[in-house]
Amino acid sequence: MGGIPHDKYEPKTKSEKWLHSRLPIVGLIYDTIMIPTPKNLNWMWIWGIVLAFALVIQIVTGIILAMHYTPNVNLAFQSVEHIMRNVNGGWLLRYVHMNGATLFFIAVYLHIFRGLYYGSYKSPREVTWIIGMLIYLAMMATGFLGYVLPWGQMSFWGATVITGLFGAIPGVGESIQAWLLGGPSVDNPTLNRFFSLHYLLPFVIVALVALHIWAFHTTGNSNPTGVEVRRGSKEEAEKDTLPFWPYFVIKDFYALVVVLVVFAAVVGFMPNYFGHPDNYIMADPLKTPAEIVPEWYYLPFYAILRAFTDDVWAVQIASLFSGGIIDAKFFGVIAMFGSIFVMALVPWLDTSKVRSGRYRPAFRFFFWILAFDFMFLMWLGARPATEPYSSLALVGTTYWFAYFLVILPLLGVFERPQTPPDTIEADFDSHYPPKPAE
Ligand code: HEM
Repeated sequence: MGGIPHDKYEPKTKSEKWLHSRLPIVGLIYDTIMIPTPKNLNWMWIWGIVLAFALVIQIVTGIILAMHYTPNVNLAFQSVEHIMRNVNGGWLLRYVHMNGATLFFIAVYLHIFRGLYYGSYKSPREVTWIIGMLIYLAMMATGFLGYVLPWGQMSFWGATVITGLFGAIPGVGESIQAWLLGGPSVDNPTLNRFFSLHYLLPFVIVALVALHIWAFHTTGNSNPTGVEVRRGSKEEAEKDTLPFWPYFVIKDFYALVVVLVVFAAVVGFMPNYFGHPDNYIMADPLKTPAEIVPEWYYLPFYAILRAFTDDVWAVQIASLFSGGIIDAKFFGVIAMFGSIFVMALVPWLDTSKVRSGRYRPAFRFFFWILAFDFMFLMWLGARPATEPYSSLALVGTTYWFAYFLVILPLLGVFERPQTPPDTIEADFDSHYPPKPAE
């Protein structure tokens, strides 16, 4: 697939030509900023920019927080209190960083579900999708590592539970767990390495985001119709697109301001809403909290992890065939990672010829159940691991896997989709009819 034809950067002045023949960086920036973008993008295409902005906020506030934070089990909790009380603007830095993680995950979930609805993952954008999934995993790891740093009760016990998952891997699990922790349990070496990795991973995410953007600039953006931009000639392509600058920059900027107003209200008026009060109690290895609940953005996957108990038949069968190596805990770990893995495979599991959910009524029905299922699992993840919640979590988990592994492949065969418009221009004109010539 060739790129979308458009005007490329031409150095004009002598100094521009001088630089361009040595390092064509101005051309690279120009071509990136002026990239032809489908003119029918709707408001669900803003989340990528919100994500990029959230990443910058997290890095800037994080670097300043790190100047005042002490990664030592005897001082970490107090150093966070010191940031809140004594450092100039420290409370704001911390609250922005804390809630910035929430903004980041709200944006990433909307961005992912946008992709799932409009089939953005389908050929030729599989690589954009896979890199997105790697970003998502790196975000999950970064959030987890960061939550341990304030060294509160939830930090400590969350880290104990999650690293314990690796201990469930048969044979090598305990060695991996000890290697992750730097000792037999969560302690000072754990805090040190978590701090170091929490600082490092955001920069890995930056590199992945650069690849992500490179990938979808190579294929061009998708759009709500799922119909590709015409590439026969520049004139044709221009009927389907507008340059990113200034049109989409202004639109994204407007959306960003609206999102940031809501964000500022949360930071200002309810900064601890998304947190757990127990994390304001210093970590105590001798006192297990009544409930250990991860951050809200992990809850759907936490529900999947806990859905499998010894009396679930799938666990019993797995245990029987593996000679007891696979127990309920290990099964849960496989299911949790598996639930993300099946989502990563969606470009190959969705067999439909029509890309966008807009023209697929049956798909839409199942998609909205999936979206509901995700929220339902999130709710279940925060409930105790008792009945009826365990059984409900099993139902939710089954639907999650069924959607990707059974429903999507079959829908492509049996569904009768509607016919999408021939061109992006036709879709645009149906929403904004061209003015009659004067
Ligand atoms: C730091 C995290 C991320 C950033 C900064 C980011 C950024 C962007 C941007 C700016 C776009 C283009 C505009 C838009 O669609 O909003 C985009 C598109 C896309 N992203 Fe992401 N993204 C991130 C994470 C993810 C994740 C986790 C996924 C899912 C696996 C994903 C999947 C996609 C796909 C499939 C597209 C193409 C959409 C299209 O062409 O219409 N991204 N991303």
